[in-house]
Amino acid sequence: MLEAKEYAKIFADRIAKGAFLTTCDGQKSDTMTIGWGSVGYMWAIPTVTVMVRQTRLTKENLNQVKSFTISVPVDDSYKDAIALCGTKSGRDLDKFAAAGLKCKASKAGTTPVIDGKGLLQLECTVLYERLMDVDALAPELKDKWYTGDTEHTIYVAKITDAYLD
Ligand SMILES: Cc1cc2nc3c(=O)[nH]c(=O)nc-3n(C[C@H](O)[C@H](O)[C@H](O)COP(=O)(O)O)c2cc1C
Repeated sequence: MLEAKEYAKIFADRIAKGAFLTTCDGQKSDTMTIGWGSVGYMWAIPTVTVMVRQTRLTKENLNQVKSFTISVPVDDSYKDAIALCGTKSGRDLDKFAAAGLKCKASKAGTTPVIDGKGLLQLECTVLYERLMDVDALAPELKDKWYTGDTEHTIYVAKITDAYLD
């Protein structure tokens, strides 16, 4: 497993450009682009925090299987796949096929990771989830991000493994 200072640097450098958040419902997998998230240390455990809107297939999957993986491209090689997985839902098409992505088994086994070079892989197990109370958010952010769109569920997950492919 990579040290926190190694994966945290890559994550902080790259997350705003997009990463793959992969989930499964127990049988079928899906991946979507995320651009927000943070890695840290909570409850004396290495953690990652991500935010998923209610409308995502990813949210339905996370209701069923409490694990996910994050594959963070270390450069712009996956730009087209990041764009596709951030605009199409797995409800409408197999995004892996459409984006030319393959999966491989994660070390934990439950949810796969994106199979490819130049990816920081984080394997995660949900510890905490909570639907946002948007009324508790700074008004300018509430207006900007939640006018006409659903709130996010905030997930804090344990990082069970971190490695570079
Ligand atoms: C750069 C970028 C970042 C995104 N970040 C998030 C995010 O952090 N949380 C979220 O819920 N949706 C985010 N999205 C939108 C989802 O990726 C998009 O709605 C996707 O089609 C959902 O797929 P799904 O229905 O298969 O889960 C982002 C999209 C882009 C292009």
